[in-house]
Amino acid sequence: MDEQKTLLNDGSRVTLRRARPGDISALAALFNRLSSQTRYMRFMKFRDSISETVLVRFLEAQGTTFAIVAEIEVGSEKKLIADARYVVDSLPGEAGLGIVVEDAYQRLGLGNKMLSMLIEHARQSGIAFFIGQVLSENDIFCHLFLATSTIAATD
Ligand SMILES: CC(C)(COP(=O)(O)OP(=O)(O)OC[C@H]1O[C@@H](n2cnc3c(N)ncnc32)[C@H](O)[C@@H]1OP(=O)(O)O)[C@@H](O)C(=O)NCCC(=O)NCCS
Repeated sequence: MDEQKTLLNDGSRVTLRRARPGDISALAALFNRLSSQTRYMRFMKFRDSISETVLVRFLEAQGTTFAIVAEIEVGSEKKLIADARYVVDSLPGEAGLGIVVEDAYQRLGLGNKMLSMLIEHARQSGIAFFIGQVLSENDIFCHLFLATSTIAATD
């Protein structure tokens, strides 16, 4: 996947690119900036904070991972504001899915863009199913997933 520049619905400029091994401390910083509600929806348990070691274990679950991050520039600094990934499971054609957008950048179309990219990449890689657990109260993700996957399926 090539790096892509995109604009969020508020005009913010964002770079979407493959995650790299060197991103782990920026990803830990992102996860530690999340509100407790957003962190709960992603991890499905309450955590006050997360260490790099635990994050690596959580994100790099066994299997092949395809992960995209969203990066913005704040002054001369670059900051990661979202992570979306799938992990190919032991069953062929299936993958587990996870996505999170930093609270201040939610509702700006980023989740939709990143999920569309995951779906497109998964389709080209022969993944027929995303599997995973999502909290039944997570209406936002269910809405996003149904809307995005329906659009991707009819492209
Ligand atoms: C789910 C999540 C990734 C969506 O990211 P996002 O960047 O806010 O998504 P988008 O801006 O692309 O919005 C997608 C849709 O959800 C809706 N939506 C987003 N946030 C919403 C909110 N707080 N309340 C109601 N609807 C909301 C949007 O209106 C949009 O719907 P539309 O396309 O019909 O207008 C983000 O809310 C998040 O990080 N949640 C916590 C982690 C999580 O739940 N991950 C999924 C399980 S792994």
